[in-house]
Amino acid sequence: MLNAAQQAQFQAQGYLVLPDFKAPAETAAVRARALAIVDAFDAEAHRTIFTTQDQARTTDRVFLDSADGIACFFEEDAFDAAGHLRQAKALSINKIGHALHDRDPVFDQFSRGPALAAVAAGLGLVEPQIRQSMYIFKQPGIGGEVRWHQDATFFVTEPVTVTTFWFALEDATVDNGCLWVQPGGHRTPLRERFIREGDATRMETLDTTPWPTQAEAVPLPCTAGTLVCFHGLLPHYSAPNRSAVSRHAYTLHATDARSIYAPTNWLQRQDATRPVRGF
Ligand code: FE2
Repeated sequence: MLNAAQQAQFQAQGYLVLPDFKAPAETAAVRARALAIVDAFDAEAHRTIFTTQDQARTTDRVFLDSADGIACFFEEDAFDAAGHLRQAKALSINKIGHALHDRDPVFDQFSRGPALAAVAAGLGLVEPQIRQSMYIFKQPGIGGEVRWHQDATFFVTEPVTVTTFWFALEDATVDNGCLWVQPGGHRTPLRERFIREGDATRMETLDTTPWPTQAEAVPLPCTAGTLVCFHGLLPHYSAPNRSAVSRHAYTLHATDARSIYAPTNWLQRQDATRPVRGF
């Protein structure tokens, strides 16, 4: 349950930090599961590189098909000029996405339960539907930057309801690429919309409001087990990880079934036997 001060913080600032939300055994379970998924992943057969610097590259089949499934995506700098991995496979993956919460029992358990349901309700989600899950590695040395963006760009609904649940699975610091947010920035307009048209995707500019300056950005360093919740319109970014330690995190994006989910969003549940569910 969220208390009044926590709800007020979320309303005013657009985000809420809940330390020690997950126990060490819970974060350890999903970390171990993620490593097992990567271990079983055929790196040579799937070289999809995920980068937010160039969304056009992410339009390949593996990316689009991962909406309903589980796929691994490499860091942009994972391969050398000759196309070989610079470091071990387990240290080369950018993320796993995008239906871990529905397709993997360990992640399903981590992603649901009364505690999370209570947080979602406290943040105003009346009929939450978990649309996406991502395991983000933020690898040591090569963990890529995620530029300023708003998550509502990828989950357009009318009205805006998408809410992000970001779990630190390891300590996140300024050095290893913690989140940076613009407090109160959830009251700024949606700047971009990511649209799928057939098998192609593109980014459309909706509003030319500039992204926040570094002076407006606040880092959110936190310890493993912390849950950071933020509003779909809150501008946020994370810096590259040039440190020697990884910064694993797990995210869930939930929308409210009472809002209209845009048919142009890239994430559409195709498998009718697995309808979107809440917490
Ligand atoms: Fe984001």
